Amino acid sequence: MSTTEGLFVCASGDLLDGGLGVRFPVVAFGSDATGFAVRYGGKVYAYLNRCAHVPVELDWFKGEFFESSKLHLMCSTHGAIYVPDTGVCAGGPCRGGKLRPIGVHEVEGDVYWQPDQFIRPPAAQ
Ligand code: FES
Repeated sequence: MSTTEGLFVCASGDLLDGGLGVRFPVVAFGSDATGFAVRYGGKVYAYLNRCAHVPVELDWFKGEFFESSKLHLMCSTHGAIYVPDTGVCAGGPCRGGKLRPIGVHEVEGDVYWQPDQFIRPPAAQ
């Protein structure tokens, strides 16, 4: 659903601190891809679901973005870890890399993402 708020991701209550993330379809730099939203420190953050090391999705098990301590996001392929609120690589083979942020906000109990110049909604939306 597309509104002036942006594009619907999920209900706010679906994102628990350090819990499973919610994936959503995007077109990133002209190709089909996914974004994901997670909650960390009470706030929602969203990123393109693409490791800075090798361009694969981070979650081997869909929605599993946090590593076991819940302090970092982790790429399940080779273990790159990222700081949840900045997307900056904190260790592993992503060194010096960063997740691509996607604008996201909560309005009245729902979470919406905001398209930008390079990350667009799929054509059907
Ligand atoms: S592909 Fe993500 S750590 Fe290598």
